[in-house]
Parts: sequence; C-alpha cells; structure tokens
Amino acid sequence: MAENHTKRWRLVLIASPLQGHMTPVLQLATYLHSKGFSITIAHPELNPPDYSNHPDFIFLPLPDNLSSQGKFTSFIQFLQALNDACKPHLREHLVQIINKQKGMRGKESIVIVHDNLMVFGGYVAGDLGLPSIIMHTSSAAFFPAYKIIPQLHQEGRFPVHDSMMQEIVPELNPFRYKDLPFINFPIQEALVSASMITPQTPPSAFIWNTLEFLEPSALTMTRKQHQVPIFTIGPLHKLVLTPSTSYLEEDASCISWLDKQEPKSVIYVSLGSVANLDVKTATEMAWGLAKSGQPFLWVVRPGSIHGFEWIEFLEEGLAIEMKMRGLVVKWAPQKQVLAHNAVGGFWSHCGWNSTMESVSEGVPMLCQPFGVDQLLNARYLSYVWKIGIEIVVERREIEGAIRRLLVDKEMRQRALEIQENVKLAFNHGGSSHNSLNRLVDFILSF
Ligand code: UDX
Repeated sequence: MAENHTKRWRLVLIASPLQGHMTPVLQLATYLHSKGFSITIAHPELNPPDYSNHPDFIFLPLPDNLSSQGKFTSFIQFLQALNDACKPHLREHLVQIINKQKGMRGKESIVIVHDNLMVFGGYVAGDLGLPSIIMHTSSAAFFPAYKIIPQLHQEGRFPVHDSMMQEIVPELNPFRYKDLPFINFPIQEALVSASMITPQTPPSAFIWNTLEFLEPSALTMTRKQHQVPIFTIGPLHKLVLTPSTSYLEEDASCISWLDKQEPKSVIYVSLGSVANLDVKTATEMAWGLAKSGQPFLWVVRPGSIHGFEWIEFLEEGLAIEMKMRGLVVKWAPQKQVLAHNAVGGFWSHCGWNSTMESVSEGVPMLCQPFGVDQLLNARYLSYVWKIGIEIVVERREIEGAIRRLLVDKEMRQRALEIQENVKLAFNHGGSSHNSLNRLVDFILSF
C-alpha cells in the first residue's frame, strides 16, 4: 500500500469524453486513490465529469478547441482534432509540475494512465520520459482485431469480400471477418482509425477492464506480442462504488416499476450512449417489444431516433400497446436495473461496459451490435460464452427471440455460472484481485 510513504505518486489519468470510457477511468481512479495515490483527471472540455462527486481528485480540463472547428465528418476526424488540441495543454501542465519539483525534497513520481483513444497521453509521456500505461475500456479481443487491419488490407483481405464475411479470420479465431472492427467504415477511415489507436511506441504496461477467464486466447496472444505487463482488473464497477458517472440524469422511477414485476420477466433494452437509430428500426423494435407479451423497460436517449426529439415516432395504436406492458425512459440507472430480480434479459448493442455489467449479474442478452468493438462482443456472447442471441431487427424475429431468451434455462444457467466466476475473480487469490495488487506494486516501482 502507498499510504504514509514518504515518496508520493501522482497518477495523471487521461479520460476520453465518451460515457463508456469516462466511467471505467473514474472507477479505476477511485480504486487507486483508495490505495493512497494522488489522482489528477485530465479530460477534454467536452463532456466533463462531475467534479463534485470526486472531491479528492484534482481535475485538469484540457482546452479541446472543438466548438471552433465546425462539424466533423467522421468519428476519427473528431478524435484526431481532440488529440491534437489537448496534447500541448497536457504537456505544458506536466512540464510546470516537473519544473516546480526540481530541487525539491519528497517530490512526486508522475505516472500517466491514458484511455486508449487519448493517444496524445502516450506521446507526451514519451517526450517527458514519464511512464505511461494504456487503459483499455473495451475487450482484450478488440486490440489484436484492430491492429491486424492494415495487414489484412495489404494482403487483400480487407475490405472484406461478401463471400468471406462468414469465414473465421485464422489469426483471430473464433472471430469472423464480419466481426472485424471498422468493417462498416469507408476503407480509408477504417485504416486511419486502426493505425491511430495502435500504440506506435510500447507503453510501460496495459490495463484491461476485463477478466482472464472470459478472454484467455486474446490475452495470451497480446502477451506474446507485447513484452510489458498486462493487468486485467475488471469488471471495475464490481470493484468500487462510485457516485453516478452518467452524463444524463438517471430516471430512478424505473426501479419502483421493476419492483412490481414478476421475477425474471422483464426485458431491459438499452443501446448505450452513442448508437442512433432510424425510425424504421425503432418502430420494428417497438412492435417486437409490444407483441412479445413480456414486460419491458426501454431506454430511448433523447435525440437518438433520427428526426425525433424522443418517442414521438410511436403512432397512437403502438404507443397504447406499449404502455400496457412497458416503460420507456430517457436514461436508466443501468447497473441497478441489471441487478434487479425482475430483469430476465438484456437487449443490448453489446458495448463492453454493458456486456460486463450484464455478465456480472447473470443476465442473458439479445445482441444488436452496431460496429467497432461491439461485433466482437456479440460473437463472444452468442458463440463463445453462449449466453446471448444475435437478433435481426424485425418485429416477428424480435418477438420470438425475446420469448426464447426468457425461457432458455440452459442459457440462464450458463449466465449464472459466469456470474459466479466474476465474483470469484475479486476474492482473495482471484485473477482480478491479483492483477490489481500487481498493478499497485508496478506503479510503486517508479
Ligand atoms: C462506447 C462503445 O460503443 C462501446 O462499444 C465501447 O466498448 C465503449 O464505448 P457505449 O456505446 O456507451 O460505449 O456502450 P457501453 O460500453 O455499454 O457503455 C454504456 C454505459 O452507459 C454503461 O456503463 C451503462 O451502464 C451506462 N448506461 C447506459 C446507463 O447508465 N444508463 C442507461 O440508460 C444506458
């Protein structure tokens, strides 16, 4: 433990402004602070965390210059602009700290921990001779899967020909070509995305918000390719309790609604913080839910259905059908929802946080991945762990899939076994428990 050491360590965690990335970074920071480390959270001005929830941290807003740049045509353009704008401000801040400490006794050791999208953190650390750790908030499988894209491109295997889509990528077994990250991006954008988030110089270590037993092959492969420590410390939400890290207000009324439902009867639907839908898809989802005969809780983020503010797209008859069995909210306390006894299934876009939160509660899933890492996660759920069903978004298909999910006893049993193993990982001697101890020792070694 670092408490009461005469030497001090300051961890500068660089967070990205996306919900699915900010939450695990704040969770990790909370844990590391409990181990006696001083914490600075450096973050772009866009989507700042709520400082009042973390009075023990220092927050460093990095001017991101985004408002002056007009509309971005792609996510990678946005990410590049964010990285370019934030980099000099982080550097300046760190140089100031380093200069201030020159000649001081009891100076702090600075260690950078940066989100894998905030690549500037690694470059600045390298320039200043500071150790840097890359924090991955996605699966371990995502890393080799995006790193291999330039090679697949050179060999004529990416973009993927239609006839190859269902084939397994030999280097990434059991993932198929159709599961590859950026598969639905224009080719140049896919290549730039993959190379931008591939570290150009090796970091001091990697952290993954995952579990050893869930991803043995991907972790073995990465350990063979990278001779630096790899810490698998997930699922972080089970390690530390943090105040809500949601950007949107959580509607707690859904918990009292869940209290009135039968055990394992409710299908919970949420497509995360980024995915948007066209009205046709949203309408099929609504009909599928209404006709399934099961109670449902559906999160529809305001503005996530193209052309509508919220759920005005529901025609009157459908709205009435939906009200009879379901509840629609703008944002839910998802971890609490998934832990509720009334929830029997989770219809998800398979973001990694949602996946981790669902497996931690033994809740089987309907998989509607949109892209990036979600296709790999859906493959894990449906094919490897066998606790998920991939769906086609068409009302009759959905109706059937919801029923199958809720009655499939074997799938539920497997989900419960995984839940048990997640619990064991944090027990004394468990994989995440050990990895966290090694991470703390590793930081103390600087
Ligand atoms: C993004 C990517 O899409 C995802 O694939 C990647 O792994 C992380 O970054 P996002 O789409 O938001 O994240 O999905 P996810 O990773 O599942 O994170 C969503 C978070 O929002 C979860 O922690 C979930 O608990 C929370 N959430 C979602 C709520 O608290 N309430 C809601 O109503 C919906």
